[in-house]
Amino acid sequence: MSLNVQSPVPPDQSNKQLSYAVRGWFAATALGQLAFLTFILFFYYQLTLSGDYAGWNAKPLITGYVKGDVAGNRNFAIHVMLAGVMTLAGLLQLVPTVRSHWPKLHRWSGRTFLIMAMALSLGGLWLVWVRGSYLTLTGAIAISIDGLLILAFGFMAWRTARRREFVAHRRWALRTFMVASGVWFMRIGYIAWGIATGGLGIEKGMAGPFDLFWAFATYLLPLTVLELYLRAERSTPMAKQAMAGGLWLAAIVTLVGSAGAWALMWWPFI
Ligand code: HEM
Repeated sequence: MSLNVQSPVPPDQSNKQLSYAVRGWFAATALGQLAFLTFILFFYYQLTLSGDYAGWNAKPLITGYVKGDVAGNRNFAIHVMLAGVMTLAGLLQLVPTVRSHWPKLHRWSGRTFLIMAMALSLGGLWLVWVRGSYLTLTGAIAISIDGLLILAFGFMAWRTARRREFVAHRRWALRTFMVASGVWFMRIGYIAWGIATGGLGIEKGMAGPFDLFWAFATYLLPLTVLELYLRAERSTPMAKQAMAGGLWLAAIVTLVGSAGAWALMWWPFI
């Protein structure tokens, strides 16, 4: 799977601006995902590998460790272990040096990312609908649509790669990355929104207006930005410049949300 950001159009000023902006966004995203990965490794890996499943509950969860729920605990353990591998593989996809200098590693991390994302979706669907880990039905439906999109986009990314349709493959790979990062966008988005508005529309039990909106927008908004970017890169210089501005804004929000998530959500537990 390739997350190649190079545009196929010949370079001019607006292409350069768009290319810098997309790199800026990727850098902010890579930092934020690195923070998420660090949390997963130092909290979930440490507890899970040492067999201390009950330790998960030190963190507020919907359904973490439940005594006697062998299947639920086992699947939660698998879910968080795979989440670490997927996040690491996704991170490698974002680093330009890996893409340009180690294409073999890039291809393998791409395949790993794809397989992990699809396995996480299936496991996540089980956690929601069989284990019953959800707070609101709307939230359960929203995350399930994300899971189904990961499966559908992942399949398309794999199929286009098999058929060597590389232009289409790049698009499907990027779409898969966006929806598979939905759970990460959810966390940094909550924090960024909380910082900007003081938590407007966020209610206990995730049933407030912002909660319900963000349950879907957490993957639909990044997907929309991606679709705009894919159109902008083959559009007029003005569209490219506008897109570059939007991406810098997204990069700033991503940085603020990631720094806040690290300080409030992840660091306190490791
Ligand atoms: C594809 C990328 C995914 C990643 C990286 C990921 C990561 C995680 C992590 C780190 C947790 C631990 C909870 C926390 O510390 O906040 C978690 C829990 C969970 N995930 Fe995922 N997940 C992914 C996809 C999904 C999908 C698609 C679904 C549903 C369809 C899902 C459903 C759940 C559920 C129900 C929990 C338990 C939440 C709780 O009890 O509080 N996940 N996931």
